[in-house]
Amino acid sequence: MDYYVLTLFPDMVGEGLRTSIIGRALEEGILSLTTVNIRDYTTSRHGKTDDYPYGGGAGMVMQAQPIYDAYRSVRDRLDYDPRVVYLTPQGRVFNQEMAREFALSPGIVFLCGHYEGVDERVLEEIVTDEVSIGDFVLTGGELPAMCMIDAISRQIPGVLHNGESAEDDSFGDGLLEFPQYSRPEVWNGRAVPSILLSGDHAKVDAWRREQSLIRTAERRPDLLEKAAVSPKERAMLNAYFQKKSS
Ligand code: ADE
Repeated sequence: MDYYVLTLFPDMVGEGLRTSIIGRALEEGILSLTTVNIRDYTTSRHGKTDDYPYGGGAGMVMQAQPIYDAYRSVRDRLDYDPRVVYLTPQGRVFNQEMAREFALSPGIVFLCGHYEGVDERVLEEIVTDEVSIGDFVLTGGELPAMCMIDAISRQIPGVLHNGESAEDDSFGDGLLEFPQYSRPEVWNGRAVPSILLSGDHAKVDAWRREQSLIRTAERRPDLLEKAAVSPKERAMLNAYFQKKSS
């Protein structure tokens, strides 16, 4: 997977991603990351990349020309038309299913906006996907791009090593993850659930599945509607909540 990030803050993206698991995958060559400084492509004598909005109003708008030329510098090196993701609170809200789908692309270009926005015409010209990472407003698209790159990368074979499996994750089966415990057996007067010490793998798996179902029902009932839950499990949840409320 080759990532290209068009940004005014390449160090932020480069330094953030060259750390931990994604950093290791970049070093191993499973992923590549090219940051493109939009400022390097301005034709303005003063290195300007933004200007006042037509029609007036507060803030500045990033201009089309430097962004388009930065994009062309990437596109001209490729023998395919890459997906171009513009990070914006107006986009489709990112989720695990989208992470899995994006992970199938050979390469993705991310366009990080700043200021009050980006000239609409360059978005119309190059962007294939407008994506939001949630209903809140950040100062720029860099953190959202980094979030997406992290989530997409862990779906790519070889990025996670043994024991870092993506399968048991929250959302892997449409449910939230079960609680985890490590040593010591008792900490601060709190004991690890005894079933986890039983050595009975079938029982442990059944307990974890039940915990995932209960957590999801309590915290994200919206997810439960789409998850594959058997009639027996639905009955277990009903009994659990009945008992809890009585
Ligand atoms: N840019 C600013 N806020 C954003 C958000 N929530 N998602 C994606 N891009 C953004």
